[in-house]
This record gives sequence, C-alpha cells and structure tokens, in this order.
Amino acid sequence: MKILAISGSARRNSTNTAMLQAVRAVAPNEIEISIFDGVGRLPVFSPDLEGEHLPEAVRNFIDAIAQSDGVIIASPEYVRSIPGGLKNAIDWLVSGDEIVHKPIALLHASHRGDDMLTGLRTVLATITDRFAGDIFLRLPLMKLEPAEVFNTIKAAENRSKVQAYLQALSAYCTADSKTA
Ligand SMILES: Cc1cc2nc3c(=O)[nH]c(=O)nc-3n(C[C@H](O)[C@H](O)[C@H](O)COP(=O)(O)O)c2cc1C
Repeated sequence: MKILAISGSARRNSTNTAMLQAVRAVAPNEIEISIFDGVGRLPVFSPDLEGEHLPEAVRNFIDAIAQSDGVIIASPEYVRSIPGGLKNAIDWLVSGDEIVHKPIALLHASHRGDDMLTGLRTVLATITDRFAGDIFLRLPLMKLEPAEVFNTIKAAENRSKVQAYLQALSAYCTADSKTA
C-alpha cells in the first residue's frame, strides 16, 4: 500500500511536515508513506503551462499522485483558509485524471484551523469521488519543534491512534470504489 502524504506548509520547521515524517516512522510495515513537502517549489498554476509546457516539478508531483494508492493531506490554516501553496498544488491536479478516483484523507496538526478544514473538505470532495471525510485524525502539535512532534507521536497512545488511522485509510484504499 503506497500512500503519498502532502504537507501544506512550506516552512522549514513545519509541524505538519514533521507530523507526516513521524507518522511514516510509526506506520505498519505494509503501509509505505512518501512525503511531498514541495508545495513551495511548484510554479504558480496557469492553464497555459499545462500539456507540453508542463514544468518538471509539476510533472513529478502529478506522477507521485498517480503512483500512490491513496493520499493524506496535512495543512496549516492561513488567514482562515487553505494556504496558497497547497491550493496552487491542488489546482495543478484538476484537469488531469490522476486525482479523480484517488482516495484522500485529512490529518490535522492543530487544535485550531477549522475554517481551513471546511474549505479543504469542499475542494477535495470536488476533485475526487473518493474523499474519505470520516477518516480523520487531529493531533494538537501547533508550535512544537520537529523533535517534540516525533516524541509526541511516538508516545503509546498517539502511536496507536495514528496506526488505527492508517489502517482505516488502507482499508478504504483497498475497498472497491463502487462500494466504498
Ligand atoms: C500567515 C499566517 C496566517 C495564519 N493564519 C491562521 C489562522 O487564520 N488561523 C489559525 O488557527 N492559525 C493561523 N496561523 C497559524 C498556523 O496555522 C499554525 O502556526 C500552524 O500550526 C503552522 O503550521 P506549520 O508548523 O506546519 O507551518 C497562521 C500562520 C501564518 C504564518
């Protein structure tokens, strides 16, 4: 089972990126997690750059989506909304068919950010028919340094919450899309 985990933060010491790295470290063996932390390296979306002019960074991002069985997105809230970098990354996916039936679930690294979550849920339910809205885990990690994020997730109670979350997502990815 291959999961692509996308961080919506371009910040060096991002709690979202650190959370995804820690989740990868505690994942069951059969769930292989790759992390995409490159939203800040994608050019601004324009339909003029699609097709034969597609930038290489965007091609690599779309290929990573295509090669995954499912996607996790973890993002901060910026000004009560989806950060521009993450929204830009999503915009690059909309005209292709890689995302249309892709299972996607949210993971959240803050006790705040519900306006962003509402907006992101609307966007994801629009771009895929397999947005798993019920598969969701919130961990209050805001303001922690990456090492503290790792220690928090490795603690027994959180480790088992993360593993249950990943098992639920894995089962959803495996389920027939017509019955899921
Ligand atoms: C420009 C900017 C705007 C923000 N706006 C909000 C906001 O509207 N609501 C909120 O709860 N947090 C807001 N925050 C705080 C971030 O969502 C929070 O610090 C988050 O944990 C950062 O994630 P990261 O560590 O992965 O970068 C904002 C932070 C920045 C830098």
